[in-house]
Amino acid sequence: MQTHFKGKHLLCEQDWTNEELETLFKVTEDLKMKYAMDVPHELCKNKSLFMLFFEESTRTRNAFECGITQLGGHANYLTPKATQIDHGETAKDTIEVLSRMGHGIGIRNTLVGGHKWMAEVAKHAKIPVYNMQCDIWHPTQSICDLYTIREKFGTDLRGRKFVISWTSAPNYVRPLSMAQSLVALMPRFGLDVTLAHPEKFDLMPEVIEMAKENARKAGAKFEIVHDMDQACKDADIIYAKGWGPIMHVGNDEEAGLKLIDENPGWLVDSRRMKLAKESAIYMHCMPADRDVEVTSEVMDGPQSVLYDQAENRMHTIKALMALTMGNVASRR
Ligand code: CP
Repeated sequence: MQTHFKGKHLLCEQDWTNEELETLFKVTEDLKMKYAMDVPHELCKNKSLFMLFFEESTRTRNAFECGITQLGGHANYLTPKATQIDHGETAKDTIEVLSRMGHGIGIRNTLVGGHKWMAEVAKHAKIPVYNMQCDIWHPTQSICDLYTIREKFGTDLRGRKFVISWTSAPNYVRPLSMAQSLVALMPRFGLDVTLAHPEKFDLMPEVIEMAKENARKAGAKFEIVHDMDQACKDADIIYAKGWGPIMHVGNDEEAGLKLIDENPGWLVDSRRMKLAKESAIYMHCMPADRDVEVTSEVMDGPQSVLYDQAENRMHTIKALMALTMGNVASRR
């Protein structure tokens, strides 16, 4: 087990090996126990975390902000408008300056090109850069999801069926990043992954290739189906959330919403949960559209692990920060 994580970025799950993620999970377990027992754990005392949000957030922002406070540090909440980014200051100049003042930076930018912008920041950063969700990946969510699955089913996940299904989520076109992170990460830990969506809601082809390759290396299965009932059959985990037909319509919001409206009925209800195994769990990264993506009966029912999952955002993110910007690491 290697212990040198100081300054390590997290832009994508693939940046971290399975062994590194195992260390992160062990640290998470320790910090979660300390949180439960109210034992102080100021591993990032006097450290400053920058949180740069191009879009809104409930879970991610508060997981990082409460997390760094519990670790003895402080968070600066930034937006493009609250900085000179909106006036055109470059990613390089922004991060060169912030690197002189603080100890880590998280960025959320889910607009097309968000990942590219983040990668440019990481190229010039002298401090760890955390992807708080971009147009391609949402690694702090998927890592938390894997941790939650391991809490529920144990660490040997071989042969378990993980379903990530599209839903008819309304009102706006959601990024591909959540589904893409899940299909890429879960097979690495032995889960058999079924991706379900209507025609024209494909994920990026290079991500699908990565998912297939990760599954092949781990001896796991990966399949794509276009029928939600078929996907849910015998599932151990049903994770269902919407994304836009971005591969077909790009940034055309109107065309995207039209295609979503043409595919009603993709939601998780008790009938679909009954198609899964009796011990199956229901997951969603939240925010979930109640009674549109999932019925309230399922969301508030015994198979739902939503709030455990949401809490685990904070514990896994604290482990990430403690390892990559913590005081212990900085003594090396
Ligand atoms: N799951 C998630 O990223 O939630 P927020 O958008 O509220 O951060």
